[in-house]
Amino acid sequence: MIEKSTDFPCSFVIFGATGNLATKKLLPALCRLEEAGRLPEVMRFIAIGRREWDDVAWSAHLQSLLQERLQDRFDPEVCQRFIGRFSYLRGELHDVEMYHRLGAMLAEPRSGVCSNVIFYLSIKPTDFPSVIKNLDKSGLSKPRGLHQVVVEKPFGEDIESAQALNRLLHEHFDEQQIFRIDHYLGKDTVQNLLVFRFANTLIEPLWNRNFIDHIQITAAETMGIENRADYYDKAGALRDMLQNHLMQLLTVVAMEPPPVLDADALRDEKVKVLRSIRPIGKRSVHAHAFRAQYAAGSINGQNVASYQAEPGVEPKSITETFVAAKFYIDNWRWRGVPFYLRTGKRLKEGKSMVAIRFRHPPQQLFRSTPLDVVSPNWIILSIQPEDCMRMEVHVKQPGLEMNTRVISLNATYRKEDEKALDAYETLLLDVINGDRTLFIRFDEVEWAWRVVDPILKSWAMERDFIHTYPAGSWGPLEANRLFDAEDQEWRNAL
Ligand code: BG6
Repeated sequence: MIEKSTDFPCSFVIFGATGNLATKKLLPALCRLEEAGRLPEVMRFIAIGRREWDDVAWSAHLQSLLQERLQDRFDPEVCQRFIGRFSYLRGELHDVEMYHRLGAMLAEPRSGVCSNVIFYLSIKPTDFPSVIKNLDKSGLSKPRGLHQVVVEKPFGEDIESAQALNRLLHEHFDEQQIFRIDHYLGKDTVQNLLVFRFANTLIEPLWNRNFIDHIQITAAETMGIENRADYYDKAGALRDMLQNHLMQLLTVVAMEPPPVLDADALRDEKVKVLRSIRPIGKRSVHAHAFRAQYAAGSINGQNVASYQAEPGVEPKSITETFVAAKFYIDNWRWRGVPFYLRTGKRLKEGKSMVAIRFRHPPQQLFRSTPLDVVSPNWIILSIQPEDCMRMEVHVKQPGLEMNTRVISLNATYRKEDEKALDAYETLLLDVINGDRTLFIRFDEVEWAWRVVDPILKSWAMERDFIHTYPAGSWGPLEANRLFDAEDQEWRNAL
């Protein structure tokens, strides 16, 4: 285990520093860590990009992106301190010469910190192998043990490529140096799920097939693919969101309590869940998975183009931007309970949540009253935009009649004066501190691919048709065919 603390000096190299992820998530999160005084005193960043920039041009770019992203949290003094830690390195990922220049920069006396280097691969998955090989060729993957490499998802594009990527990583890095990131695990509500389940005696006895009818996990986005066609058109929603973020949520919702709360114990339990997911047979893919693509439509009063009209997308692309899937976990706790997972771009609202629907009461005691069939209870764990928990229960309406209404017990975790943390703040700090608890072990990745592999294979054979949905809707109605029972439907509202 790498022993580190926040005053452990390090160099942090960002591959893909001008890309979408770095711009939207990494750089603002690192700057907020600077604001919170959580970056090591001696720490430098090297931003690698293809643009013909020097340090001055990079600094101007960084300053304006921080201003735009941090908005009212933008503090000029903090940002200057943060920007002052950067150097810019221009180069091509496949060009080994660039890595020699990187090596020279890391060795500059000014840094004095090259003994510990974090390489953050914020790049297209297809570029991972080239970077890893070039780090090795230029001697930068040595010494083993001190350097770390952070790999973004999706880890591979199917099970075989994930295994190949893992083998390649292991040729040059030890497992303890590898951080496979899935930023959903850094979200507060996701971590809170563990606390909610395992710190409340009230909840745990209900968390099983005897009481729960089904579980829905939704990650809905209003945004489109934002100039990421190059990556997204090959990946699609299943690889981009479901195989990783949604599967991780599923494991946290469904896992057994670990014996202790350490990285491996937790991950052992998550793997057990993935291994218990009933494999989807070739012939039942259609009953278990549904894909679709957004057509033109309107979101928040603004007309938006169809997926196929997005810059860089193949004109007749059938890449899915929406996916819904149903899984069963064949273990003692969950046998027979469907887990419905759904994600999509250009949907009506941006919202991620886990919705748990309980069974109907065993006896319809109120049948002879004016009450309709009593609707079931729900627990909603909202991840974003609000991070809160909501429990729906029935109460009697005041008055002479026997009528009920549903009330929501709302709990917002955060107090008004507590700032929301971005998942990347948590995870980047963990990388700097060498804590791998919230990172993914390879067997998790492998089992998650195994679960979705039959879907990928079947879709790869059906290349000429995809359902569409108007941008700004909740996706196609056909996705409802996954439901096991007539009284099940997608839960869109909090
Ligand atoms: C990323 C996906 O991993 O997660 C993006 O590549 C997606 O396509 C994003 O937009 C969603 O993250 P969040 O935190 O905004 O829900």
